[in-house]
Amino acid sequence: MKNKVIDSPAPLSGKIVLVTGAAKRLGRAIALAAADHGATVAITFRESEPEARQVVEQIAQRGADALALRCDVTDELSVREMVKEVVSELGAIDVLVNNAANYSTVEFAKLTVQQWDAIFASNTRGPFLVSREALPHLKKRRGRIVNMGSLGGLRPWPTHAHYCSSKAALHMLTRVMAKALAPEISVNTVAPGMIDLGEKAAAAFMRRTAKDTPMARNGTAADISAAVMFFATAPSFITGQLLAVDGGLGL
Ligand SMILES: NC(=O)c1ccc[n+]([C@@H]2O[C@H](COP(=O)([O-])OP(=O)(O)OC[C@H]3O[C@@H](n4cnc5c(N)ncnc54)[C@H](OP(=O)(O)O)[C@@H]3O)[C@@H](O)[C@H]2O)c1
Repeated sequence: MKNKVIDSPAPLSGKIVLVTGAAKRLGRAIALAAADHGATVAITFRESEPEARQVVEQIAQRGADALALRCDVTDELSVREMVKEVVSELGAIDVLVNNAANYSTVEFAKLTVQQWDAIFASNTRGPFLVSREALPHLKKRRGRIVNMGSLGGLRPWPTHAHYCSSKAALHMLTRVMAKALAPEISVNTVAPGMIDLGEKAAAAFMRRTAKDTPMARNGTAADISAAVMFFATAPSFITGQLLAVDGGLGL
């Protein structure tokens, strides 16, 4: 009997994936992974336009279509216009990855109302707004939402009260949306732990966290994009779940 090679289509072939804040770092890795999985990819950027253009070029080099649009996820009108443009250019949205966010370190006693509100606006209200605007399009395609949570939403980091609280709220929002948007849309969270993106300023901190991590290393962008691709392609019966990708650091 001869061996037969059966070509199976790429898992996201024919799908449109929208990733917010994807000009750099983890968002970029997720956008490239989606293209590698066969998707057409829309990314958003706020300030990083040149980097966003590079991501579009890199996706084109992979033979996939891509689009980059400016969007401030804290601004309802900007989100509405962005979603409208994605659908008018690409025709649909199958997977939304709410990745855009902010992070900062502030001693609790010095945390200002402005800092508190700004982080909730991007990290919690942003994913709510983008999801709400994308809803009719995701419903039509029985799509998925993947929210980027954080180990900081599971563990209390004393100098990150605003960030940890915003991500804990996002984790709950995932569970609420999973119930509210079923059975058409599945909604899940990927919660990264310590991810080493090669920043020189973070090198000493990264060495310490690797030592504390049961898997004896920090995470990589590939670890995170693999988890996002899992939820983007998993059975839709998996919903409302949180997947910590932290090498066991949160255990
Ligand atoms: N990196 C980690 O170790 C880690 C750990 C735990 C959780 N996470 C989560 O994983 C996701 C990606 O992490 P990351 O470190 O790659 O993120 P990041 O670099 O901190 O931010 C991603 C992008 O978000 C965009 N952004 C910020 N505020 C925005 C706004 N108001 N409107 C639109 N876009 C906005 C920025 O776009 P522009 O540059 O275009 O302005 C930025 O490039 C985030 O949700 C983060 O909280 C990351």
